[in-house]
Amino acid sequence: MAAIEIRNLSRTFPGRGKALDGVDLTVGRGEMVGLIGASGSGKSTLIRHIAGLVTGDADGRGGVVRVGGETIQENGHLAPGARRTRTRIGVIFQQFNLVGRLSLLTNTVLGVLGRVPHWRGALGLFSRDEKLLAMQALAQVGMADMATQRASTLSGGQQQRGAIARALVQEAEILLADEPIASLDPKSARRVMEILAHINRRFGITVVVSLHQVDYTFAYCPRTVALRDGRIVYDGPSRALTPSFLTELYGAQSEELILPGAYGQHGPESEDAADTQGAALPGTPVPVAAVTAATG
Ligand SMILES: Nc1ncnc2c1ncn2[C@@H]1O[C@H](COP(=O)(O)OP(=O)(O)OP(=O)(O)O)[C@@H](O)[C@H]1O
Ligand SMILES: [Mg+2]
Repeated sequence: MAAIEIRNLSRTFPGRGKALDGVDLTVGRGEMVGLIGASGSGKSTLIRHIAGLVTGDADGRGGVVRVGGETIQENGHLAPGARRTRTRIGVIFQQFNLVGRLSLLTNTVLGVLGRVPHWRGALGLFSRDEKLLAMQALAQVGMADMATQRASTLSGGQQQRGAIARALVQEAEILLADEPIASLDPKSARRVMEILAHINRRFGITVVVSLHQVDYTFAYCPRTVALRDGRIVYDGPSRALTPSFLTELYGAQSEELILPGAYGQHGPESEDAADTQGAALPGTPVPVAAVTAATG
C-alpha cells in the first residue's frame, strides 16, 4: 500500500487560476522525494493538500488524497477520519515550527498530542515515558544536550531538527517538509537534510520535501517530482534531470539555480549520508547563466 496516493487533485483560487491542476502522484512507503518547481508552481499548496490542511476543488472530478491507505480528502471535502489520519503525518514548514517560550524538550514531547487526551497535553502533563521518548528523539537529531533550552534561543537549523524530533515522537509515518532549509545557511541546511535522510532510512519514514535549491534534491532525494503551474512535469530519478530541463522549468527564475554537479557544494559531508543516492555526483557547481550561454 502506498504512503501517499493522489488522484486528479485540482485546486483553483478564484481570480488566480489553478494552483494544482489534475495532479496524480503515488509515493511508496519509505521513499524520500524532493519536490521542486519555480516560485508559485504549487509546492506548498500540494503539501498542504496532502496534509489535509486544505481541500481541493469540489468539481465532481473525484480528486482524492489517500495517506497510508486512508482517504484524507475527497472531492473537496475532508474525510470523516481525516483528524486521525493527520496524526500519521508530520509537517515541517520553513520556520516557526516550535513554540519559542517553551523548552526544546516540551516542544518535542508535544508530538504525543495526537495520542494522549487533549486535557493532559493542555496541562503539560506528560508521563516519564513520554519525556524519555522525547529525549531519545532529540538524541536522534543530535539535540539531546539542548533539551532544556528555550526554543527561541535555538538557531534556525536547531529548531528544524527539533521539529523533526517532534515528528518522531508523534510516530509520524510520513514527513512533509515545505522548504525546511530555505532560511538556513548551507552547513545547517546540509545537517537538516542529512537528518531527514537518516530518519528516512533508519525508521522507514516516508519523506516528501520541497526544496527551493535544486542541488539538494540531487544530493539527498533519489526521486524528484517537478511542478510547473500546478502540474507534474517530471517525476523520476533525480539523477536523470538535465540542466536544460531545469533551466526551462525555472524560466526567468533560473538565474538563482545551482545545477546538478553541485553535489560538492551542498552535498553531504559524512560518508554515511553520502550513500543516500548510491553514488555521489561528480563535478563542480554549474551556474545556469554559464549553461545558458553555452547552449545559446
Ligand atoms: N491562499 C491563496 N489564495 C490565493 N492564491 C493562492 C493561495 N495560496 C496559493 N495561491 C496561489 O497558488 C499558486 C501556487 O502557490 P504555492 O504557494 O503553492 O507555490 P510554491 O511552489 O510553494 O511557491 P514558493 O516557491 O514561492 O513557495 C500561486 O499562484 C499562488 O499565488
Ligand atoms: Mg511554497
